Amino acid sequence: MNDISEQLPDQDAEAAAEPGQARIEITGLGKSYGSLQVFKDINLNFGEREIVTIVGPSGCGKTTLLRCIDGLLPVNEGAVQIDGDEIAQPREGVAMVFQHFGLFPWKTVEQNVAYGLKLAGVSKSEIQKKVPEYITLVGLGGFETSYPYELSGGMQQRCGLARALATEPHVLLMDEPFAAVDAQTREILQFELLRIWALRPMTMVFVTHSIEEAVLMGDRVVVLKGRPSSVFEIIEVNLPGPRDRSTLGHPRFAEIREHVWSTLMDEARAAEFEVN
Ligand SMILES: Nc1ncnc2c1ncn2[C@@H]1O[C@H](COP(=O)(O)OP(=O)(O)OP(=O)(O)O)[C@@H](O)[C@H]1O
Ligand SMILES: [Mg+2]
Repeated sequence: MNDISEQLPDQDAEAAAEPGQARIEITGLGKSYGSLQVFKDINLNFGEREIVTIVGPSGCGKTTLLRCIDGLLPVNEGAVQIDGDEIAQPREGVAMVFQHFGLFPWKTVEQNVAYGLKLAGVSKSEIQKKVPEYITLVGLGGFETSYPYELSGGMQQRCGLARALATEPHVLLMDEPFAAVDAQTREILQFELLRIWALRPMTMVFVTHSIEEAVLMGDRVVVLKGRPSSVFEIIEVNLPGPRDRSTLGHPRFAEIREHVWSTLMDEARAAEFEVN
């Protein structure tokens, strides 16, 4: 594993987010689908108030890893623990936001947002209080009775976000949540999410294909690599907060972005060589 801190200028340690105690502990995790081993020996800890972003080549197992953390998929080796409990099935306090919104087309915005709360067994009066609160928080006020087909991609993603946030999760798992929206909307949603996170910090594990997004959003960036994949590198981002557009022009931002980019390009070149 490389240590980028040796290659980059020293950062103000106080500027780093205080991640708190480990909430998620992943030890020796391995996952196969039949004879295909997707990843092996993954060891990671995520803090109570930490945003960890995960990047890696397509097919390296990022979605699979999130599903294992969520308890949606059984693991083959090792374990995932959340707050000390081994995960074998989905549990309360853990929410997931999917790349393709995952909204019910036959439900309105407020019905979609209420859905997760209903599943969690929240009382009707509490649902009536929380749904408008979270719809407002993600900026969807006025669209309560709209159906997903009446919303833009960015609005649908806001709705998916409100549905996950309304359950007030301790752990938010995000699988390329902004991949399907245009570049400007994506940037708006990134900063919105950081704003919402600052209001109510939680453990956020954020998978993305975008290296910029990984560096902008993450307290740490985890790089997965290899076949089967494993953790190649963990980068402490240490960019001053709060993160905003000016972060994108910070010299450390550019250095980490280039570092991650060249790390992943090596992998892409190796894959191309293999194909040829
Ligand atoms: N249900 C499944 N059954 C069999 N193989 C699967 C299944 N789901 C995923 N795979 C395989 O496991 C590997 C990892 O898939 P996964 O979706 O986790 O990758 P990923 O890193 O999320 O990729 P992407 O960046 O393209 O979203 C791929 O080779 C994929 O074909
Ligand atoms: Mg995926």
